[in-house]
Amino acid sequence: MSGYKNFAIVGAGTLGNYIVQQFLKEKAVGTVNDVVVLTRQGSKTTLVGDAKVIPVDYSNPGSIKNALTGVHVVICTISGAALDVQRKIAEAAKEAGVKLFIPSEFGGITEGETEGLFGQKANIQDELKVLGIPYTFFYTGPFADYIWAPFLNLDITSGKVSVGGDGNKPISFTSRPDIARYLSYVLTHFPPEQLKNKSFTIAGDNKSFNEIFKAYERKTAKKLEVTYVPVSELDAKLATNPEDISTYLHKFWATTGPFPRTDNHLYPDWNPTPVLDNLPVA
Ligand SMILES: NC(=O)c1ccc[n+]([C@@H]2O[C@H](COP(=O)([O-])OP(=O)(O)OC[C@H]3O[C@@H](n4cnc5c(N)ncnc54)[C@H](OP(=O)(O)O)[C@@H]3O)[C@@H](O)[C@H]2O)c1
Repeated sequence: MSGYKNFAIVGAGTLGNYIVQQFLKEKAVGTVNDVVVLTRQGSKTTLVGDAKVIPVDYSNPGSIKNALTGVHVVICTISGAALDVQRKIAEAAKEAGVKLFIPSEFGGITEGETEGLFGQKANIQDELKVLGIPYTFFYTGPFADYIWAPFLNLDITSGKVSVGGDGNKPISFTSRPDIARYLSYVLTHFPPEQLKNKSFTIAGDNKSFNEIFKAYERKTAKKLEVTYVPVSELDAKLATNPEDISTYLHKFWATTGPFPRTDNHLYPDWNPTPVLDNLPVA
């Protein structure tokens, strides 16, 4: 057992809400004592469940430190431009005596990346190492239950999708509930030395977009119109707009391949859901 009993989730949105729900379940059975959620003052975010919510002014280190006093593990689930706020959160967490800091990763392996979103996440990792607060990184691949959306040109229910490359490269996917279960398991069951300054790579399933599209067509008896965008075209788009997150991710998926190894086996009863079970149905 880790001995960690008090958890804070910072910015409970698309992913964090699932993590909050999972830790509330752990609280209900006595595995954890306290689950708090840090939120921006005046935020309109709605949480499912009854976690203790603490409004925080992230520009004020004292405000963050007060919210994290007594917390053993901080799990950051903020995103985009807000990722840089993690520097201040980590500094305040160290001051407050937090024992373990989980930065907002939850995608591809970012170690060694220098550009775009993953470069931004890798920078935060470097800063945690310099700060000297113990950390754990969780790599999950794209969320199997979330990415089928218009902003990624993957709204499968519309009948039209677009992917980078030839669509044949397998990708490691994990759903948000499966991520939340894995996280809560290792953070409560493993001894601190197995968690501190370690990374965990998990994959609910490995499938290429073409395999997924074919299976979807079989399941729904609907034909999908798939556009394949050459990687050279993705590169040209990124040169014009490096902030284009959809193009950035499609290039990453088209060129990287699945995780070479995973830590799925460390939670033998995990049993994640196959990606096909996570597809929306029109
Ligand atoms: N692998 C994938 O497919 C995938 C998909 C999506 C995201 N991700 C990754 O998962 C992580 C979490 O992303 P997400 O989509 O769950 O996050 P999100 O829903 O966009 O944001 C989470 C919360 O962050 C808080 N927040 C927003 N702006 C903020 C700011 N300027 N300063 C401080 N807090 C702010 C908000 O909470 P309050 O309003 O309560 O303050 C928000 O609900 C990120 O690392 C992201 O890159 C991965």
